[in-house]
Amino acid sequence: MAATPDAGTVSRYSGVAMMLHWLVAGLILTSLVMIWFVDHYPDAWVRPVIDTHKSIGIVVLGLVLMRLLWRAGHRPPALPRTYGCGERLAAHAAHALLYAVIVLLPVTGWMHDSAWKDAPTHPMSLFWLIPWPRISAIMNQPAAVKESLHTLFFAFHRSLAYVLYALFVLHVGAALKHQFLDKERELERMLPAPRGASRT
Ligand code: HEM
Repeated sequence: MAATPDAGTVSRYSGVAMMLHWLVAGLILTSLVMIWFVDHYPDAWVRPVIDTHKSIGIVVLGLVLMRLLWRAGHRPPALPRTYGCGERLAAHAAHALLYAVIVLLPVTGWMHDSAWKDAPTHPMSLFWLIPWPRISAIMNQPAAVKESLHTLFFAFHRSLAYVLYALFVLHVGAALKHQFLDKERELERMLPAPRGASRT
């Protein structure tokens, strides 16, 4: 078990974990903001915006898998002592669910896109640079099957986005509660130490 920190000291995540955390958060937010307003862009923008949404999503998938691998080899800092038993359980459950949703969102988006009837004539690439495959087991289905799958996978993709919004509110709400109501140095756990400060 990771050591429980003394009161007054801050146990921080490693630099790599912090970098991946903020990068994934920023990319997801960018991708969401782009797609939320897709119906309001001029027609010429719609396809490039959706293509960028897909590219960012695939990058997020790669980064979150790296984050999970990193986490397996680098134990996160223990939760502060002041957390009650229920809070500990809730924090671990919310983190596990967040990881699951952040993996499943791009996977269902990729499945939805692979069932798109025009996929064979619109090859996918990451940021117009790197060719990216569709899932052939889905793409090679008969047209009628693909049409139903396209609708079904989009329903999964959209529902998972709602789960993500709920988890995001919980995650940020809990961090702010610990920081400002409980007066714990919660946010610093995921922020680099100021120059000269000792790391715990
Ligand atoms: C972190 C990753 C991702 C997040 C958070 C995300 C989230 C979303 C959201 C919120 C929508 C709008 C749903 C609605 O209209 O209610 C959407 C649409 C869509 N997503 Fe994703 N997505 C991600 C990754 C992907 C990936 C990797 C692909 C494909 C490779 C993809 C393909 C699509 C497509 C094709 C649409 C429909 C766009 C349209 O026609 O309006 N998404 N996504």
